[in-house]
Amino acid sequence: MPRPSSILMREHEVILRAVKGLENKINYMRDSGRIDVDFLRDFIEFSRTFIDRCHHGKEEVCLFPCLERRGIPREGGPIGVLLMEHEMGRTLIKRLSEALDRYVEHGEGFDRVIQLCEGYVELLKEHIDKENNVLFPMGDEVMEEKDSEEVESCYDEREEEIGHGIHERMERLAEHLGGESEDST
Ligand SMILES: [Fe+2]
Ligand SMILES: [Fe+2]
Repeated sequence: MPRPSSILMREHEVILRAVKGLENKINYMRDSGRIDVDFLRDFIEFSRTFIDRCHHGKEEVCLFPCLERRGIPREGGPIGVLLMEHEMGRTLIKRLSEALDRYVEHGEGFDRVIQLCEGYVELLKEHIDKENNVLFPMGDEVMEEKDSEEVESCYDEREEEIGHGIHERMERLAEHLGGESEDST
């Protein structure tokens, strides 16, 4: 498999670890009837920084444009759907952040917080599944040798822009988010 997709698939593993942690946390919160505000604030930070800036950034700025140039359509094709899902994810996280503030300030909206978390878990799992099993294999077919190099250096530029050490810090945060509720699996 060419490196551009294998790098993103490795990041999917990191994302799924945090998402699994969130899924376990949802069950825990339901059972206890209380929202774990600190956990969710950490998750929101992980989502905004790692999922969105590090990962979706690489897809939107580097990989998808390359695949479009090689003939995979955006409109009416997989890329359009995936981009729309990135946008849905951003909206869900924004709403979750607002719902969380409301819960902290007024102690209300427990169900809404839970529903938004569930929606996000479902969206991300399906999204990653589509990329791993549909788009990336299609992309690997059409990409040429020099595309791989270009896309990879584009990834490096993205990381450079985000800043040194952020990616690694986010990987540790994913470990923390994924591991914290491991007991309840
Ligand atoms: Fe994506
Ligand atoms: Fe992805």
